[in-house]
Amino acid sequence: MLKDSFGRVATDLRVSLTDKCNLRCTYCMPPEGLDWLPNPQLLTADEIVRLVTIGVERLGVTEVRYTGGEPLLRRELLGIVAGTARLRPRPEISLTTNGIGLARLASPLAEAGLDRVNVSLDTLDRDTFKRLAHRDRFEDVIAGLAAADAAGLRPVKVNAVLMRDLNEHEAPGLLHYCLEQGYELRFIEQMPLDAQHGWTRDNMITADEILARLSEDFDLTPDDREDRGSAPAERFLVDGGPGRVGVIGSVTRPFCGACDRVRLTADGQVRNCLFAREESDLKTAMRAGASDEELAARWIAAVARKLPGHGINDPAFLQPSRPMSAIGG
Ligand code: GTP
Ligand code: 5AD
Ligand code: SF4
Repeated sequence: MLKDSFGRVATDLRVSLTDKCNLRCTYCMPPEGLDWLPNPQLLTADEIVRLVTIGVERLGVTEVRYTGGEPLLRRELLGIVAGTARLRPRPEISLTTNGIGLARLASPLAEAGLDRVNVSLDTLDRDTFKRLAHRDRFEDVIAGLAAADAAGLRPVKVNAVLMRDLNEHEAPGLLHYCLEQGYELRFIEQMPLDAQHGWTRDNMITADEILARLSEDFDLTPDDREDRGSAPAERFLVDGGPGRVGVIGSVTRPFCGACDRVRLTADGQVRNCLFAREESDLKTAMRAGASDEELAARWIAAVARKLPGHGINDPAFLQPSRPMSAIGG
């Protein structure tokens, strides 16, 4: 079991498959991109499946989410998903993606065993998309969403980060669109995880602001049909349901107390928190010949050291040195 000193148990493993991305969302990375990890430093597909197997078979992991960078860029993705789907007890398998390439891959992914997807979409306007993501790929994302839905990768969730003077006015439009398509939309407060270190509290659109803006157009009531558990999103029924909307208030409404997550970076480091100050190197141990038991012991020790919260609201907060794209969201 992966238990920390505050009694939280990590059962939800988020695995970054690559730090590379084909978009350049302003809240994540600069237009010129970043220095990507060199290939030899990336875990191989076999190494990933080995670590996930240890997580599931020895450490109580019940949910596996593949992330990036952009996980669809990883050529071995189908094999990794299939390898994960063979594990017993079979974990729930999900993917967080920007949607580019999903039009082609949704169906094979579903066949390989993927259960569901979360897709980033911050705007419904092609020009705003270009300004925000520095690439003209809006149509690919819309097609990817439709393909995911058609392939049964449901519930299809949409992640939207609102930014001041960029797309903040789009909140109601995005919700109308997602309700119409049957996608579950979540608005996310921007976190200080961009590579440029450009995040400021004043520019962050808060959960309160988002809810106030949506309430002008929709009737929102807290959705208490199911226990929120460890979910980052607070959910609301829209106009009495069944449609709903979520708000992920990581900064102003932190949910660290119920956290059940642990992360594995594309270069094989266990991170016990998005905002962790330290990592535990499973890759080097594995390549030096460590046994499954030894790797499990390292992993347990890394989670045991998890801090109580992300600390963003502490005056002494320092942004982690690795950006979101290298940690895996
Ligand atoms: P489900 O609710 O299981 O569908 O997934 P999710 O919302 O946890 O995953 P997703 O990858 O779609 O992430 C949505 C947003 O939540 C992103 O901005 C993530 O960075 C953020 N997020 C995910 N896990 C954590 C976490 O442990 N802490 C914080 N602060 N944010 C998180
Ligand atoms: N703050 C909040 N969410 C972010 N994402 C990427 N960068 C940030 C950030 N700085 C979102 C993406 C994606 C998910 C993994 O995290 O939009 O949906
Ligand atoms: Fe790529 Fe995701 Fe970062 Fe956007 S947020 S640049 S889609 S990794």
